[in-house]
Amino acid sequence: MTTISEYRPGLEGVVAAETRMSRVNGQIGELIIGGYALEEIATKATAEEMAFLLWHDRLPNPAELAEFRQRLAEKRPLPPATLSLLESVAQEKVPVMDALRIGAGTLSLGLDEAEPQDLAEAIVARFPTIVAAYWRLLDGQQPIKPDLELGHAANYLYMLTGERPSAAQVRGLETYLNTVSDHGLNASTFTARVIVSTGSDMVSAITGAVGALKGPLHGGAPGPALDMVFEIGSADRAEPYLREKLESGERLMGFGHRVYKVRDPRAEVLGAAAERLFAADGDMALYELAKSVEETAVSLLAEYKPGRNLQTNVEFYTALLLHGLGLDTSLFSPTFAVGRVAGWLGHCFEQMENGRLIRPTSIYIGETDRTW
Ligand SMILES: CC(C)(COP(=O)(O)OP(=O)(O)OC[C@H]1O[C@@H](n2cnc3c(N)ncnc32)[C@H](O)[C@@H]1OP(=O)(O)O)[C@@H](O)C(=O)NCCC(=O)NCCS
Repeated sequence: MTTISEYRPGLEGVVAAETRMSRVNGQIGELIIGGYALEEIATKATAEEMAFLLWHDRLPNPAELAEFRQRLAEKRPLPPATLSLLESVAQEKVPVMDALRIGAGTLSLGLDEAEPQDLAEAIVARFPTIVAAYWRLLDGQQPIKPDLELGHAANYLYMLTGERPSAAQVRGLETYLNTVSDHGLNASTFTARVIVSTGSDMVSAITGAVGALKGPLHGGAPGPALDMVFEIGSADRAEPYLREKLESGERLMGFGHRVYKVRDPRAEVLGAAAERLFAADGDMALYELAKSVEETAVSLLAEYKPGRNLQTNVEFYTALLLHGLGLDTSLFSPTFAVGRVAGWLGHCFEQMENGRLIRPTSIYIGETDRTW
């Protein structure tokens, strides 16, 4: 065994897993998920096909897909204890992402003996139900029961709004969920793998992963990114506004990435999806404003942080697309989790099959000569 004694802050560049889920090439801006280029699969697959692909390394045939869809749909209703917990939590008005973390932890109820496959299906099926039920409770409304006839993405929108979404809205959401379904060894995926690597269970893993995803350096950026576009308000205000932020040392949300040193390919796919959605039934002026904010931000980042290659990341167009779908900013990160959970579980399966306890080392920098 080789011993690496060099400390790498943030584990940057450290290889900690082998995976067939996805490959991220940050130098050329390429993302492969389950063997398909992101651009190839994101706009075509349903959310169910994507989950099946991640878990089985192939797309389902029509009979398998129908069966898988049915099994997921049947698992959507929440255990009564989860629902009543969410009711209490709503009284405290905690943010949706915290409610998802709290609700996620209860998903083992009644499933202690379940096979890993059944448990994974229940988790994926119930994430949207938790988010939508809590969202309505927060607003003093009753949760809407899942509609088992609708697909995974369509049913999520239906449970949020009570209205059956248009085909364009469903396609927009599926493209989003597919785009964020997996992304190499990102922080939340790593968290999930660390947890199952100890022999712990998948519910613990996805609960920890939600906690990791919540942070603004990972999945918490799209809300602030959209707020920024709204605050800017018109293209001519973009430069003074962004300059002021950079002068005061603030980070621009939706830009920069640990791995991508060119434009995040997910920004490309989501930008195009947002454009289609806004052209079909939205506000093209907002889309145009976002494009010009993006251009100004990228050029100012090059000026203020030369050599850093700070480019648009996934969060910027996530914000625009999800806003176009009628989602409130507080639902952006939880909706990210609704998409990413399929990937987390795929990684859990891999880790449980081949993995070794993940246990890095640390360098002690404290005192050694203290006496009592
Ligand atoms: C995503 C992110 C955490 C990656 O950061 P990282 O790999 O750890 O990069 P670092 O924090 O080392 O940043 C390198 C330099 O670029 C700057 N930088 C990075 N992202 C920046 C941003 N969005 N706006 C302004 N400056 C930024 C840092 O301040 C640092 O500058 P310095 O060396 O002069 O101190 C970072 O780019 C960020 O905070 N982005 C904004 C939040 C966001 O959009 N998150 C979603 C990610 S998908």
